[in-house]
Amino acid sequence: MHTFNDLKAILDKSLHQAEFPAEPNQLYDPLRYILGIGGKRIRPLLALMSCDLFNEDPKKALGAAMAVEYFHNFSLIHDDIMDQANVRRGQETVHKKWNVNVGILSGDALLIKAYQQLDVYPADLFKPLNQLLSKTAIEVCEGQQFDVDFETLNEVSKEDYIEMIRLKTAVLLGASLKMGAFIAKASEKDAELIYNFGIDLGIAFQLQDDYLDSFGDAEHFGKRIGGDIINNKKTILFIEALKQSTSEQKDQLMKLYRLRDDSRQKIDEVKSIFEDSGAKTETLSLIEYYTSRAFDSLDQISVKSQNKQELKSLASYLMNRSI
Ligand code: IPE
Ligand code: IPE
Ligand code: MG
Ligand code: MG
Ligand code: MG
Repeated sequence: MHTFNDLKAILDKSLHQAEFPAEPNQLYDPLRYILGIGGKRIRPLLALMSCDLFNEDPKKALGAAMAVEYFHNFSLIHDDIMDQANVRRGQETVHKKWNVNVGILSGDALLIKAYQQLDVYPADLFKPLNQLLSKTAIEVCEGQQFDVDFETLNEVSKEDYIEMIRLKTAVLLGASLKMGAFIAKASEKDAELIYNFGIDLGIAFQLQDDYLDSFGDAEHFGKRIGGDIINNKKTILFIEALKQSTSEQKDQLMKLYRLRDDSRQKIDEVKSIFEDSGAKTETLSLIEYYTSRAFDSLDQISVKSQNKQELKSLASYLMNRSI
């Protein structure tokens, strides 16, 4: 078994060695830029950790790890265009630093580069990995479209929201882990269990992202605080606030969420309703609930429990993160 830090070093080296052509620089500079400004690199680490968990050399999962990190970064470039976000990882977003067309095309190129990372695998592995990546990629698109659709809907149920974040975020964490399991030739049952671990972890992860978008601090979080409020995103905080607030607070929240307004005042007013209604506290308990569901799947996997320790620590760290 490898420690988290060992695997991080293996991954960073591989990301570092990856090169893109010099020209056309408007296509490739943004890729060097977005990959160079860091990020937590959770998804590729999950691919390596899963391969390690099932007793295979984690280096064999590097192709899959690179594929999911490239895919993730592609999705962020396009997401930032869709969400009109100016800051990512504490730096300017690609479409802000260059322009929207550069964001669209360099994002497309990175998506293709993601698929090319799987070319290193023999046919019998390539096929299931490729199928899983495609299935996941289309689900992420579905989730992203639901997220946008929800901005202009008055009522979004908690179930619809959880399904939306399962698609836009959780399936990629699940797929990263399942790819590691495929490469390590884990049993079908264990591959399913590690996928389910990733789904619940991913739901907790997006709940935490929504929480931090309102209640994090900009310096750590690396994104503009209140971005979801400005965009009238129907996050868990909004859904729980509508459920739990007084009718006066509810009217005020609905009124604020009909505006296209990026003022400090709107952000502050909405945040106090999230807080006073109990939505903030409820969100934190939902994060714990999904993390513990994730642990239940991990517990059922048929490898020694000490091998699961690194994944458990990562899940606990993610639940309490500020970045
Ligand atoms: C951001 O993902 C997008 C979400 C799915 C919430 P991360 O929080 O993993 O972003 P980086 O890669 O660490 O910047
Ligand atoms: C992004 O969700 C999910 C994908 C990129 C697919 P968000 O829009 O919440 O992610 P951030 O907050 O911009 O990182
Ligand atoms: Mg966004
Ligand atoms: Mg978004
Ligand atoms: Mg977010």
